[in-house]
Amino acid sequence: RKHLLSIDDVSVDDIAEIFATAAEMHDVQRREVKKLPALRGRTVINLFFEDSTRTRSSFEIAGKWLSADTINITGKGSSTSKGESLRDTVLTIASMGVDALVMRHSASGAALQVSQWVDAAVINAGDGTHEHPSQALLDAYTLQRRLGSLEGRHVVMVGDLTHSRVFRSNVLCLTKLGARVTVVAPPTLMPSGVAEWSRAAGFETSYDVDAVLPTADAVMMLRVQKERMSGGFFPSPREYTVGYGLTRDRLALLGPDVPICHPGPMNRGLEIAADAADAAQSVILDQVSAGVAVRMAILYHLLAGEGSAA
Ligand code: CP
Repeated sequence: RKHLLSIDDVSVDDIAEIFATAAEMHDVQRREVKKLPALRGRTVINLFFEDSTRTRSSFEIAGKWLSADTINITGKGSSTSKGESLRDTVLTIASMGVDALVMRHSASGAALQVSQWVDAAVINAGDGTHEHPSQALLDAYTLQRRLGSLEGRHVVMVGDLTHSRVFRSNVLCLTKLGARVTVVAPPTLMPSGVAEWSRAAGFETSYDVDAVLPTADAVMMLRVQKERMSGGFFPSPREYTVGYGLTRDRLALLGPDVPICHPGPMNRGLEIAADAADAAQSVILDQVSAGVAVRMAILYHLLAGEGSAA
């Protein structure tokens, strides 16, 4: 396997291998082992045309802990701000001799396009509203560690599904692992075509969060992506919170051990109340922590043993 572009391209066996490797990476994460030499001599470029806190820094830490040379390039600080095209930018970077490009871009399909231009491994760190495969892997890893097997477990995803690449990758990943998945959104934030996709992929949709939450084995709150709503926000923030937010009252609909996930960044007080985000059953920071181990595993599986580009 050369790239990580979509969960569609990752088999159940691949996921099991990534999870097994991630579990081994916790020794490094606990700092019992400072670094592994696995990617010594490899160069990983984080090329982020959209903002990021978790994904970019965890890929950087993951690369460094595997002894790769990691470099960060952001859209704002690069020559794309002078009008250089995406193709010229990635061909320029690839010409320096890199082994992997970890890329985030606002255009759906950007990572796939780049993978056709360069020889380096391309890891999709979020492409528009399309996919965010490493996030889905770390979410499933977090839930599997918390719940044991995901087979038959009911995972409820609530949020702005229209704009969510995390939703798309998570549906693919969780259903592959045998979970029963229900996705919930107001009608205005339910993606067009989801009814056909849900029938084909075997997940459920609902507009009624209060009806679904009592049967959840895990709940995943997704961010309202105001920056992708050029035409304004409907329902209003207040209506959204009342209808779909994980409020203090709705927290009572969940069992006390039901993990609460959020990929971050959170809109506290909009899609998730502080009582839920900071509850004992919240695994939001466990997701962040798992992100390093899972991204180490992804880099390891893509790059270890391959010849260096340099
Ligand atoms: N979950 C996630 O992708 O967070 P960042 O935007 O901070 O990377």
